[in-house]
Amino acid sequence: MRYELSPLPYAYNALEPVISAEIMQLHHDKHHAAYVAGANAALEKLEKYQNGDLPDLDVKATLRDLSFHVAGHELHELFWRTMQAPSDNNVPTGEIAEKIEKSFGSFSAFQKLFSATAKSVEGSGWAVLYESPKNGLLVLSVEKHNLNHAPGYTPILALDVWEHAYYLDYKNDRGAYVDAWWRVVKWE
Ligand SMILES: [Fe+2]
Repeated sequence: MRYELSPLPYAYNALEPVISAEIMQLHHDKHHAAYVAGANAALEKLEKYQNGDLPDLDVKATLRDLSFHVAGHELHELFWRTMQAPSDNNVPTGEIAEKIEKSFGSFSAFQKLFSATAKSVEGSGWAVLYESPKNGLLVLSVEKHNLNHAPGYTPILALDVWEHAYYLDYKNDRGAYVDAWWRVVKWE
């Protein structure tokens, strides 16, 4: 089994001016591609170790590496496919709107919490909206790509707040990036 990088579901410049083509190209083709390569490299090492082709392996470090790269890959896959060309008054409708209202009270209450989560991530990480069939929706901040996930919950919306996601466009103003990002969320 090997992981594969999916092509972006739109052109590099599709999210402008919220996210530039330059960032999209680097982010997808270099950063995301590196997570896919890292996940596959860790898998290969583990396979060789299992088969006896690699006499010695730091299994603990390799598994940590696998966790980081697999989570990085999966969160980026989700990130790309839940964005679209920017629009004003971009708010959820239908089923997702109902679920948000049920779990958070209102869309604006959810938006306030999710934005604050994204802006307060220490260092590199994500704001993630999760869903559990039993318990509804939950917002968590994820450190790096793989720390703080909630077992039993599926990520359904994720905002990358690593510097590689916004620095070329927004410099150190992560808040402006987070505020602008709401215009490109693909709610459907
Ligand atoms: Fe990223």
